[in-house]
Amino acid sequence: TDTLRLGIAGLGTVGVGVVRIIRQKAPLLEARTGRKIEISAVSARTRDKDRGVALQSYGWEDDPVALATRDDVDVFVELMGGSDGPAKAATEAALNAGKDVVTANKAMLALHGQALAELAESKGCALRYEAAVAGGIPVIKALTEGLAGNEITRVLGVMNGTCNYILTRMQDAGLPYEDVFEEANQLGYLEADPTLDVGGIDAAHKLAILSSIAFGTRVDFDGIEIEGIERVTIDDIRHADDMGYRIKLLGVAQKSGRGLEQRMMPCLVPAGSPLGVLQGGTNMVVIEGHAVEQVVLRGPGAGEGPTASAVIGDVCDIARGLRLPVFGQRAETLQEAPAARSVLP
Ligand code: NDP
Ligand code: HSE
Repeated sequence: TDTLRLGIAGLGTVGVGVVRIIRQKAPLLEARTGRKIEISAVSARTRDKDRGVALQSYGWEDDPVALATRDDVDVFVELMGGSDGPAKAATEAALNAGKDVVTANKAMLALHGQALAELAESKGCALRYEAAVAGGIPVIKALTEGLAGNEITRVLGVMNGTCNYILTRMQDAGLPYEDVFEEANQLGYLEADPTLDVGGIDAAHKLAILSSIAFGTRVDFDGIEIEGIERVTIDDIRHADDMGYRIKLLGVAQKSGRGLEQRMMPCLVPAGSPLGVLQGGTNMVVIEGHAVEQVVLRGPGAGEGPTASAVIGDVCDIARGLRLPVFGQRAETLQEAPAARSVLP
């Protein structure tokens, strides 16, 4: 069997998780894919940092672009984050050099997904991003593969673990916002810039990606109406509770005669409903299609193990030779998202 050689840029929560799975589960991955999966080299901002995992046997690059284009790298694994800057530069460099790419970077895909998909497809390279939406839940594969025979009518769900953690802990433990925010930080849920989480922007990045796949449209982040959870108070949560409701940061996308309607905002959901009982960093995505009717996916939306699980799933797909298309259909066939003329009721 020939070996699939990885270059991993970013050794934070997700990157370390990916290294751990590859070190601990090598025989399993080889049995599943028929190929050895190895790490050639890694990159992060600081070389001399104890990350709780042995890295000495791998090559090192200070510059992620240099890592992405190394001769001994077949797949560039981008786990640095940030919509632009080194993540985008290194992803483009990897694709231009004919390397496959796996990324968890929803911000980059929400803002530059179309251009990156066109580049990847023109080079015949994979660009895979299962971890970018709903962490450990394989929702991209569900939409692009298992549900490919459906005209999708609606996608909705809870797509940010930090917000769900904060809202449920405020509800259940009566703890103030600042305390539960710190707990989410300890669990590795937060973005490097946590205002992306609590501002609803991270969840909107994910919704933009899902909408594109679901409706065959170009990623349209600017078309999303966004409100975060910063203004949700303990009093709001108690009043909702009194009426039998929970407050959830809910994303909804549907195509109608009025356009592609996309919104991400705090909503009331019945306390006993599947969304209402969703705890901690758990995510839930509901997909409705003309033939399947409704599929509900639920699982951990953030954190080291779940996110690394999704990254490794993509690496295994590449090892098996699965490459194109990037958004479930060829990038050149994606339509402009029809402008929404009114918000959802
Ligand atoms: P962290 O902040 O924990 O880690 C980021 C890593 O990238 C660090 O190792 C950092 O280096 C490195 N890095 C940052 N900038 C550079 C640079 N210019 N050059 C080289 N290395 C750099 O992030 P996460 O692991 O949490 O997230 C990584 C990606 O995964 C992001 O896109 C995030 O949105 C996404 N994601 C995260 C999830 C989670 O639960 N955490 C879930 C799903 C997706 P150093 O350590 O030296 O500072
Ligand atoms: N910050 C994100 C969250 C990580 O809390 O859901 C997973 O994408």
